[in-house]
Amino acid sequence: MSKKFFITTPIYYTNDIPHIGHAYASLIADFYSRQKRLLGYEVKFSTWVDENSQKALQKAEEKGMDISDYLDNMAYKHKNVWENLDISYTDFIRTTQEDHKNLVQEVLQESYENWDIYQWEYEGYYCVWCEAFKKESDLTEDWLCPDHLKKPDFIKEKNYFFKLSKYQDDLLRFYEENPSFVQPNYRFNELINFVKEWLEDFSVSRQTNKFGIPLPFDNQQVTYVWYDALFNYVTVCKNWDEKFWPADFHVVGKDIARFHAIYWPAMLLSAWYELPKNVISTWFFTVDGQKMSKSLWNVVEPVNTVQNYWRDALLLYLLYDISIWRDGDFGWERFFDVYNNMLLWWWWNLVSRVSKLSQKNNINKVQFDMSIEKEFLDLAKDLGYDENLFVNMFENWFDKNKIDEYFDTVNINSFIRDWYDIVQLANKFIEEKKPWELLKQDENQWKQTLCFLVYIIKNIAIITSPFLTEWFEKTKQSLWTDLLDFDTSETINDVEERFNSKSFDVNLSPKFLYQKL
Ligand code: MSP
Repeated sequence: MSKKFFITTPIYYTNDIPHIGHAYASLIADFYSRQKRLLGYEVKFSTWVDENSQKALQKAEEKGMDISDYLDNMAYKHKNVWENLDISYTDFIRTTQEDHKNLVQEVLQESYENWDIYQWEYEGYYCVWCEAFKKESDLTEDWLCPDHLKKPDFIKEKNYFFKLSKYQDDLLRFYEENPSFVQPNYRFNELINFVKEWLEDFSVSRQTNKFGIPLPFDNQQVTYVWYDALFNYVTVCKNWDEKFWPADFHVVGKDIARFHAIYWPAMLLSAWYELPKNVISTWFFTVDGQKMSKSLWNVVEPVNTVQNYWRDALLLYLLYDISIWRDGDFGWERFFDVYNNMLLWWWWNLVSRVSKLSQKNNINKVQFDMSIEKEFLDLAKDLGYDENLFVNMFENWFDKNKIDEYFDTVNINSFIRDWYDIVQLANKFIEEKKPWELLKQDENQWKQTLCFLVYIIKNIAIITSPFLTEWFEKTKQSLWTDLLDFDTSETINDVEERFNSKSFDVNLSPKFLYQKL
């Protein structure tokens, strides 16, 4: 039986359509999904919308729309974005779905009976933009929410609370037993310190909200956004997909890492569920050094970006040039550098050159001769590349464990850098070898050289297919072999064979398209 992998994105609020900050989590999750499918995992990938929120209700009222029409419309718009970005999700969830409501009520009841939910009179500040209560010490000098610079509401009402404080020891034990539960490590350490200091019980319901899932033990109250939102991850596994729980990766932004790493495990423990394996906490985008905001006209619109340039360029830029782990800046100049230099010049140029040369020389069968490797390695050394890296890569062209390790330690940039080195080297190899001269001296050797290059391209196309999805398709068009005949949004079982094969038929038609604009 194949191994399973369950990855999730945050579910997005529907008061607006997703921008690049939201798309970031979905693109990263998409990349991991394709990567795992390539390694033969059966993948479940869930995403979509968080609907039971005050913000959506306010927006519908502003527009004079009925809330359910508004939500249907926004859910459709969100789906459209993910389809345009070619996100290979397997499950879409809306939190107004009947099965989700039932599950949330079931777990609330369970925790209530477990004495983990109790009623209390609450008086304090509430920021509807964060959907969170705020302490006075959390606010700015002008009494604004520091994240949204908006005035929070002052609220006095009866709420139900979840006894988070009861789970302090359980959480600390769990963290100790699972030292990579939250990545990156520095974020995990911050969260652990937070839990060690003091855990405050949190509100799970609102009395004044009209919209949401009613508490099963008090239908005058509806559940508060986090209880409702987080359990979406379990709803998608109910009925026919239970084997996928617990989730392997929750990809989340740093602002909601706390909810996923602290509240979520405690809520699950209280309702007797297994805990998720990893929370991947990403950073916040600024654009050209400024906070992304509509009033500054600098919101990066993901669908336009992939339509005007390439999806590959966006992925390459996000995964390689910006680290997942630090707060980073989306810089258009760097984006164009990656787009022109790495993608068009190095990666794409390689395929178009090799397919043209191979076509000219009637290469239709690749029989790869080991002796060429040595020359390639010599050239790598001459050009100052690290010898060990190349020896390793050529000896283990495909090593499943090594690749899994790269990704499980979330070392994506170094993975891409290694493959980019090979692409650059292959281009330089063509220049140094001077095919036209070689052809005059030894036609056979020249054919061998081309076969070797086709072999390299085939392998690079396979290994980078989880993020360079367009390059993969274009490569197939220019340099067709059965070994590249697979769909990256589906699980494949024979990747090692496709990768290691040194004898295969090729069909060349060099019609590589460079520019989108
Ligand atoms: N609905 C909640 C999540 C519930 S998950 C059980 C929510 N929604 S959100 O639409 O406000 O945000 C979704 C994700 O987008 C979060 O992970 C958030 O961090 C991310 N981003 C929103 N703006 C962002 C940037 N400017 N940069 C990077 N990511 C940011 O929170």
